[in-house]
Amino acid sequence: MSSAQLYDTIGATYTVTRRTEPCIAARIWTALGDARTVLNVGAGTGSYEPPDRHVLAVEPSALMRSQRLPDAAPCLAGSAENLPFDDQSFDAAMAFSTVHHWPDPIAGLREMRRVARRVVVFTFDSSDPGQFWLTRDYLPEFADLHAGRPSLTELARAIGARMEPVLIPWDCADGFFEAYWRRPEAYLDENVRRGISVWARVGPDAEQSAVHSLRNDLASGRWAERDRELVDLDAAELGLRLLIA
Ligand SMILES: C[S@@+](CC[C@H](N)C(=O)[O-])C[C@H]1O[C@@H](n2cnc3c(N)ncnc32)[C@H](O)[C@@H]1O
Repeated sequence: MSSAQLYDTIGATYTVTRRTEPCIAARIWTALGDARTVLNVGAGTGSYEPPDRHVLAVEPSALMRSQRLPDAAPCLAGSAENLPFDDQSFDAAMAFSTVHHWPDPIAGLREMRRVARRVVVFTFDSSDPGQFWLTRDYLPEFADLHAGRPSLTELARAIGARMEPVLIPWDCADGFFEAYWRRPEAYLDENVRRGISVWARVGPDAEQSAVHSLRNDLASGRWAERDRELVDLDAAELGLRLLIA
């Protein structure tokens, strides 16, 4: 299944749990600098698009495009690896939580670099699954999803980007994979999991096994015993990164 087909299959309930998290949006909009024209690549339903600039979106999944609000930025069908724009057409190009889906992420990032003077990408470092309790203790299959993919360092090097860590607030409004690090019960909720592609990609056996083990550990107090220091944190470093070039 191609990456666009994946979201044509799993994207129907995306907006139930996925929306702009203000703290992270502020970081992205600051990184965009004084850009007046912004291309949003892998734009999905329009989260994180800055309201005060001219935005054009590109998104391959028809189901995702169909969920954009009527007043959202215009959106073209297309993929990162082949952007239908002249060189330096935009002040900036942004991509949020999408690079890990691209069949050729380095080609996609180079395309962003080609069409825009500035590039801002929100993605994650998959090299250490041990930094998040969910992958470390319940979902070892997560590592298989990234085997053979370019590392974060290789992605950054491809476009000469610098990396900035992004801490995830405990009450993150955007329900991506790491968002509920201090709210473990959320991962027991089918609606929450359906907004996170990881669960579809690891398959139903791994998903059910992880949910079963987590449910047991929450009931027995084992999760609280092992991860009790998280309860005192307001934000956590889980490998989320901004690449800025
Ligand atoms: C997790 S969603 C993120 C959507 C949006 N950026 C957001 O933050 O809500 C990932 C998106 O990447 C899109 N995508 C998949 N393959 C792509 C590609 N090759 N080029 C651009 N976007 C792609 C998917 O269709 C999906 O809409």
